[in-house]
Amino acid sequence: MFDISVDDFGALPDGREAQLYTLTNEQGMSVKITNYGGIITELWAPDKNGTSADVVLGFDKLEDYLDGSPYFGALIGRVGNRIDGGKFTLDGKIYQLAKNENDTSHLHGGNVGFDKVLWDAETEVTEDGAELHLEYVSADGEEGYPGELTVNVTYRLTADNELYTDYKATTTKATPVNLTQHSYFNLAGKGSVEDQLMMINADKYTPINDVLIPTGKLADVAGTPFDLGEPKAIGAEVNADHPQLKIAGGYDHNYVLNKPQEGEMSLAAEVVDPQSGRVLQVHTTEPGIQFYSGNFLDGTLTGKGGEVYEKHAGFCLEPQHFPDSPNQSNFKSIILQPGDVYSSTMTFSFSVSK
Ligand code: GLA
Repeated sequence: MFDISVDDFGALPDGREAQLYTLTNEQGMSVKITNYGGIITELWAPDKNGTSADVVLGFDKLEDYLDGSPYFGALIGRVGNRIDGGKFTLDGKIYQLAKNENDTSHLHGGNVGFDKVLWDAETEVTEDGAELHLEYVSADGEEGYPGELTVNVTYRLTADNELYTDYKATTTKATPVNLTQHSYFNLAGKGSVEDQLMMINADKYTPINDVLIPTGKLADVAGTPFDLGEPKAIGAEVNADHPQLKIAGGYDHNYVLNKPQEGEMSLAAEVVDPQSGRVLQVHTTEPGIQFYSGNFLDGTLTGKGGEVYEKHAGFCLEPQHFPDSPNQSNFKSIILQPGDVYSSTMTFSFSVSK
């Protein structure tokens, strides 16, 4: 059986109230999600002894998210990751979006991305799990993007400790769309993730230039610190003398997933915390995944329960189409046409190893 409860999460500056939804299953897993930014604020998963810990980074209060969050737990859109110069050409027209990263790039949808808006929310218990349905209508011209985009996201907690996320979107004009989820995980619940073992199912990644925009090349991971085909401690080579790691202060790269079939759900990554035995698997229909090792965390943010978030306090695995796709002719297009339906699915599955 499943349980869903709703609590007030506080008021936005314009007076609207945000809610906090708690989805629980019988296997000891629960997840808290607010309709502000669709943010996963807590995710409790059992360890090998059955003891649960909260395995995502975040804040205790809405005010802390409003004060500035590095996208902790949030839904990301209209275009996740970076667009070079915030600029792209579509059907002969040039679009200039906000350059909200160091005045060089457009990052994660702009100044007010989908992580900072209030979504309409409805809950439902189905035979598949406890569900939270979120809807947001992004106006034509919002953050500089063309077309009114209607976005529907369903989070579902299943009986077998899986958090499933489904994204759908439709538009009134051709527009780029690349939606993702920005949870920072720490399978130990606190401290550094450097001892946690990362496997990413990819033979190639997309190297970046000095402002973290893909060069357009696909590089082999073999023989480099980027080779995570076999599980490797995140900290083992995060500081290795590799120019790509120096640029980003660690891993902050898009992996080109090995996929049996384009667009099909497949295993993208598996992370194991040897201490607690917690295992996270990420499956996605997307062709890429951004592995970010929490390089910009620097001890200035204090999160839930007074935990200070130092560098590498969490990692992100963000399923996605490749960064800067609107400007990269050899990357798959992320342009959604009117009449078509954008669709993407991902799961975060929790289990334990001995
Ligand atoms: C993404 C980016 C990172 C960083 C984080 C948020 O993962 O790739 O470079 O911007 O979001 O801090």
